[in-house]
Amino acid sequence: MKRYFDKDFWWGAATSGPQSEGRFNKKHANMFDYWYEVEPDAFFDNVGPDVTSNFYNSYKDDIALMKSIGLNSVRTSIQWSRLIDDLELGTLNQDAVDFYNDVIDEFIKNDIKPIINLHHFDLPVELYHKYGGWESKKVVDMYVLFAKQCFKLFGDRVKDWFTHNEPIVVVEGEYLHEFHYPKLVDGKKAVQVAYNLNLSSAKAIKEFRSLGLDKDGGRIGIILNLTPTYPSSNESKDLEAAEFAELFNNRLFLDTAAHGEFPAKLVEILRKDNVLWESTDSELKIIKENTIDVLGVNYYHPNRVKAPDVSPNSVGAWLPDRYYDEYLLPGRRMNIDRGWEIYPKALYDIAMNIKENYNNIPWFVSENGMGISNEENFMSEDGVVQDDYRIDFINEHLIYLHKGIEEGSNCFGYHLWTPIDCWSWVNAYKNRYGLISNNIHTQIKTIKKSGYWFKEVTELKCIED
Ligand code: NOJ
Repeated sequence: MKRYFDKDFWWGAATSGPQSEGRFNKKHANMFDYWYEVEPDAFFDNVGPDVTSNFYNSYKDDIALMKSIGLNSVRTSIQWSRLIDDLELGTLNQDAVDFYNDVIDEFIKNDIKPIINLHHFDLPVELYHKYGGWESKKVVDMYVLFAKQCFKLFGDRVKDWFTHNEPIVVVEGEYLHEFHYPKLVDGKKAVQVAYNLNLSSAKAIKEFRSLGLDKDGGRIGIILNLTPTYPSSNESKDLEAAEFAELFNNRLFLDTAAHGEFPAKLVEILRKDNVLWESTDSELKIIKENTIDVLGVNYYHPNRVKAPDVSPNSVGAWLPDRYYDEYLLPGRRMNIDRGWEIYPKALYDIAMNIKENYNNIPWFVSENGMGISNEENFMSEDGVVQDDYRIDFINEHLIYLHKGIEEGSNCFGYHLWTPIDCWSWVNAYKNRYGLISNNIHTQIKTIKKSGYWFKEVTELKCIED
């Protein structure tokens, strides 16, 4: 059966500044630039963010390649640590202004809609060392200065803006589960950071509207990685565990961004556990009044949850894991390289959840994708990666997305992670996600089989079951 998508559907792909540009001509180091300086072996094969996929130097060729595979929209991010000269004052670095102006113009020249995100795990590290980064409300206001500069500089051409990408990853990676620098385990700080990130998003949205960009066809939102939660059984302890996981991992940002309110049940739990954030009435008013116009959903895998094996009181520091354990459901399909279950139906569940519980807000799949290691093993003699697994993966996800749209969910696009293989934090170049491969030694970029296939899909605006 053929499944057709709307003629204006966004067919695209996403990347980010810190993962694609390379550290060329940057005045400030971000958290990852710095972490690589002090602990290079924390990164797979010791490969850091210095060059990544060289977008700073090769953006014209890269954008031409993106056009050649049919993308009509691409998301990237503006690096705070590149654009801003004096972080306290929010003054500009002219080389960066020129660079981002050229990039945006180049996308438009190639009929690709530029979608811009403002923060993609890349806080300037000085702000962490001086003020504790997102723990501090002073940093929230500096971020708003940065956001305002972006809106003023590029808002005439960029119409779709996002304040943060996957903010829960900052909370989890930096403050709870030790997978991103500074690798703290501090529940109280983690919760404050979650609050401050939500606050910063609302404050940036307020700024966007006070500049009148919403009146000029502009929209603003947030990008969240949603991991739909499925309990291991119908026993009350597992249902409770799943409820907490949903509240903490998804609704902490989703409800706040879309409804302007933190989920009451979560607030109650955090208060009882003595880790609730510090907030003021005027901040909560800003959050209430500045909800998103549009939502980006990154979807990779579901979250299978059961009641924790350890008793909650046996853990000293406050950790969300006191409430739930994740587990893998035996017999499920896995992307072994990334350790993630492949479960396309969750995209349908997300579509219905947004329709039913979030006023059917306009949304798009801002990331979906498959990270594969040693992908060169799938390369044919002519250098083209024969990634049929990626084609199947995308097709299956699009089928479920289409079902959701048919049932009325307001989804207007699908972006794959990522157009060109890029640098992926501690995993560096271990897992490749692109529609276009990148030889990191020569920076030669070659369209994969999936890239040719995706082009056809974007032309036909249709997939097949
Ligand atoms: C989500 C993040 O937004 C992106 O930065 C990352 O590289 C991909 N997932 C793949 O893990």
